[in-house]
Formats: sequence, structure tokens, C-alpha cells
Amino acid sequence: MCGIVGYVGHRQALDVVVGGLRRLEYRGYDSTGVGVLDGDRIAWAKKAGKLTNLDAVLETAPLPASTTGIGHTRWATHGGPTDANAHPHLSPDERLAVVHNGIIENFIALREELEDAGYEFSSETDTEVVVLLLHRELQRQPDFVEAVRAVCRRLEGAFTLVFADAQSPGVVVGARRNSPLVVGRGDGENFLGSDVAAFIDYTAEAIELGQDQVVTITPDSVEVTDFHGAPAETTTYTVDWDVSAAEKGGYRWYMLKEIEEQPKAVADTLLGRLDPDGQLQLDEMRLSDDELRDIDKIIIIACGTASYAGLVAKYAIEHWTRIPCEVELASEFRYRDPIIDRSTLVVAISQSGETMDTLMAIRYARQQRARVLSICNTNGSTIPRESDAVIYTHAGPEVAVASTKGFLSQVVACYLLGLYLAQIKGTKYGDEIDVVIRELQRIPEGIQRMIDEGEQVRKLAAELVDRTSFLFLGRHVGYPVALEGALKLKELAYVHAEGFAAGELKHGPIALVEDGLPMFVIVPPRARDQLQEKIVSNIQEVRARGAHTIVLVEDGDDTVLPFADVVIRLPKVPTLLQPLVATVPLQIFACELAEQLGHDVDQPRNLAKSVTVE
Ligand code: F6R
Repeated sequence: MCGIVGYVGHRQALDVVVGGLRRLEYRGYDSTGVGVLDGDRIAWAKKAGKLTNLDAVLETAPLPASTTGIGHTRWATHGGPTDANAHPHLSPDERLAVVHNGIIENFIALREELEDAGYEFSSETDTEVVVLLLHRELQRQPDFVEAVRAVCRRLEGAFTLVFADAQSPGVVVGARRNSPLVVGRGDGENFLGSDVAAFIDYTAEAIELGQDQVVTITPDSVEVTDFHGAPAETTTYTVDWDVSAAEKGGYRWYMLKEIEEQPKAVADTLLGRLDPDGQLQLDEMRLSDDELRDIDKIIIIACGTASYAGLVAKYAIEHWTRIPCEVELASEFRYRDPIIDRSTLVVAISQSGETMDTLMAIRYARQQRARVLSICNTNGSTIPRESDAVIYTHAGPEVAVASTKGFLSQVVACYLLGLYLAQIKGTKYGDEIDVVIRELQRIPEGIQRMIDEGEQVRKLAAELVDRTSFLFLGRHVGYPVALEGALKLKELAYVHAEGFAAGELKHGPIALVEDGLPMFVIVPPRARDQLQEKIVSNIQEVRARGAHTIVLVEDGDDTVLPFADVVIRLPKVPTLLQPLVATVPLQIFACELAEQLGHDVDQPRNLAKSVTVE
């Protein structure tokens, strides 16, 4: 949520900053802005709307050449998406500029204090207080970095801030509390970014920043301290994906590319997990087997799509480990006084590793002494750093706002965790675990098949483009798939879509069924005959009331044919793995429907990729 870039070095700062913003635009696209040093002031440009609007401004009124600059792409919190509220925000003399991600919770008190001191505000944002506080602080003492620290000490809430000072050429200062900020180390140049995508075109060497730290970059140095100036230790790492991974590579949308990357994302997440004796090993697991044997309850916390990955995983984890497993929305978790203790394993699932609701939930869980394991796709991000253990999904960067490969790889990582717990607790024999692993290793083929057969779904989207309501039904692990199918459609096509557990149908939702209502139904494998038979009855019930049934069913199961208007065939896979193939046509359908409706598939309205405010 909001993307931030800072640069000092030997290149044209504007090019680097705008390039970085282009890569970070998925984090928010309500407005964009840039600032570069220009003598004794900051030259700036900002514009409501997507980056293309700023491009047009810069074309008619270019900014001067400079090697120091900052930039911002915004997801609006305080104040609407207007030019005035766009960042950077400047001091009255335009000496200072700041860009911000997060929320300054005490901004009203600070604003009143500054107004009493005679400052006037030109925006409705919480951010403007920061630059005005800095302006006032610099009148008390001249040191730019020290003044930034003093300002940070006064702020409450979550923030990443990046500052430029026209009187400090070749210096950019960043600060973070809760929101993300990463340093990119170059040769005679250094970068700041909300994530590594901001600078991946120039360097793969990154430095993680901890909580409440201030970083000062010059072309040749990176200095990190806490908010009081005490030097802080940092960890450097190499980003393991290259520029091409973050590019569209000829696809019309990132989402299409990411859907097609799913076989690889799943295969890579499974890679290297078996030791030479065929035992499952999780290298990044920082909890000992003894600690894990003590676990008597698992609570999965996550948001949105990641929470649906958790819902799928619950079925498998309980089945394999016999440990009770709950799934909870991260935003609800800490507000309901959950019963957790040292023997609870809290599993946080987050693609970005920065989702604020999830971060706050794991902090709460750790305060209650629970052990926290995260499942994450982003190396160096906050959630894995604050967890006791981590399992990384190896899906590569996910740029489209709607999660696709993130979801499938999260399910796989949760399954690895479930199998690992089963192995060390002895609730499954080694050969039983082997069978599941081998089935999982075959899943990328099944996913590939669903991608190859995507044309059928695309045609269906063209036929249903005028519909304004869709329902999705599933049972068992098909239920979270139904939720995910509906969420994709809501967020991309802006149509009413709801997922239900098929058994709930007669308890209310069936009243929604009317003539021609498109209803996707995910049929469990025939091997689960009880489940399968029940859902076939559900299909008949909705068909009898006029629903247009689109049935996802495994090869060879013809029992549904008399009641299906459309049949989408799935490869035969074990029940617990079916979500990994059944989700794919639903992703393709949502992507295609959004495209047919003329929506921006990668940047749906009102959304942002990484939700770093609660
Ligand atoms: C939906 C989607 C969101 C995210 C959710 C959690 O397509 O992408 O629902 O799944 O915001 O994000 P992470 O996984 O980054 O914590």
C-alpha cells in the first residue's frame, strides 16, 4: 500500500525514481509524485491517477537534472486521491520533501500543534505534519538526519518515510516503523524502496531494515541507526529473482503471466524439501522438532486469498496431524481474546509478508507466548522476520494485485508443514507421506493442463459478460475454492459473486437462485462418494430452479452430465489436492471477464497489493 522510492548516485534520479514507481505501482495507484534536488529547493511534480498521468505532466514540464530524488505512488488513506493530497509533501520553502506509506495516528494533535505555531496546511493528508515538523525541527538544530530522528520519535502509528533536503545534496533519509522499507546497495549509488522491485533493475543486493530504524544513504554509504541515533545491525541478502521475473514478458497482463507461472511456482515451492533418505526437511524451519511435538493446537491467520489457502490447508493439516486447526481472519484474531499459549502454533500466511492485519496478529500471538510460523513469498519482509520460523513459497514476484500463484504456492507450503508435523509426530507413516509428496510433485502437470485448456473458460466468460451476479458452490476443500473463485470475480470484474459451502445452500442462499443465474460448482473426486453424491444433488436442486450450472468435475465422472450446462474437466487427483487444479479455471474466468468488461486486470479499482494499514 503506497510505493516509495529514493535514489542517490550518478544517474538521473528522475529516471530511476519513475522507473521504480512503475514497478511499485501495484502497491497503489491513486496518485503519483516525484521530487528531485534543484539548487536550494526541491523541484517536484505530482498528479492524481495512475503513473501515466504523471508521465504526461513530466513531458510538458520536465524536472531539472539531478542525482538525488524521491517518489511515491499512493493508495489513499487520509484525504481523497487529488493532486493536492499526492506526495511528495513539501515544506513551505520547498527545501524539504517527504513521501510516506502508512498512517500517522497522532496526526490530528500534531496538526493542531503546528497550526498553533503558525503553519498552514495545503493537503488533507496525515503526511504533511511530518514535513512541517521536520521544517520546525531544522530551525532548532541544523543536522538533517538528527532532525529526522527527532521527528520520528514524535510519530505514532505505522510509517515508512523517505525524506530529501535541498541543503543536503547526495543524501536521502528513510525511516520505518511497521511499514516496509528496503535498501538497495549499488556501486556508487544507493536506493530505498518499499520493496526490492523498486531497484531490481540496478542491483540485487538488499538490506533489511528493522523496526524503528532510520537509514541514511549517500552514493557511497548506507548508515542505519535507531530513532535515537544508536547504530543498528543490518542483514544484507541477495534478491533471488531477476528483472525479467518482474516484467510482463509479452503478456497483456501480469495476472495472465502469473497464472501461467503456477506450475513452476508449485514445483519450486516443493523443490529441495526431501533429504537423501526421503525424509521431509524444511530448511528455513527455526523451531526444533521437540518444540513442534509440543504443539497441541494450530491457528492459521491470514487475510483474503491467503486466508482461503489456510481454509484449504485446515482439512489437510487436521487429517494428517490430528492436531486441531482453526483458521481465522487476521483482522479479527487479536480482538477476540483467543485462547493461545506456548503449545499453540500460529501460522501466518502472507504473500507480501507486510500485511498489517497479519503482522499485528502475529505480534499479539507472540505476546501471548504462542509460537509463530509464517508462510511467505517475500524474502526479507517483516512477517517472516518477526516469526519464530518461516516456510518460503518460491513463487517469484507477484505483481498483479489479484493473487494467483501466491495462493497455490501457499496451499503447497501449508501442505509441506502439515506433512512435516505428521512426520515428526508420527501420525502418518513415512510411506504415506511419500505418496502425498509424489502426488504433489505431479500437480504442476495438472495445473499446466488447466492452463492449456483455458480457452473453454475464456469463451464462457465472453458468453456471460452481461451477467451481474455469480454464485460458487463447493464442499470440503472445494468450499474455499468457491470462496476464492468468488473473490477473484468481485475484485477484478466488479460483479456480485459469492461462494458458499454447498450444504448451506438450503439454509438461505438458494433464495438467490433465479433463471439463468450462473453457478459454478466444484465437484469433489468420485473417490469421496458421499461428498460427491451430495453435491450432485445440490446441482440438481439449483438447476431445477433455473441456475445455469458450470460444473468443475474430474475426468471420468459423468454422473453430473445430465444436470450441467457447462462441464469443465479436472484431472483426477486426490481430494486434498483438487484445489490446486480447480482454482485455475476460476482465475482464468475472472481475468477474462474483467478484460471483456474493459477493466484494468492488474490494477483493479480501490485495491492495492500490499495492505500495510489496518
Ligand atoms: C486477493 C488478494 C488479497 C490478498 C490479501 C493478503 O486476490 O490478493 O486478498 O490475498 O490482501 O495479502 P498477503 O498474502 O500479502 O498477506
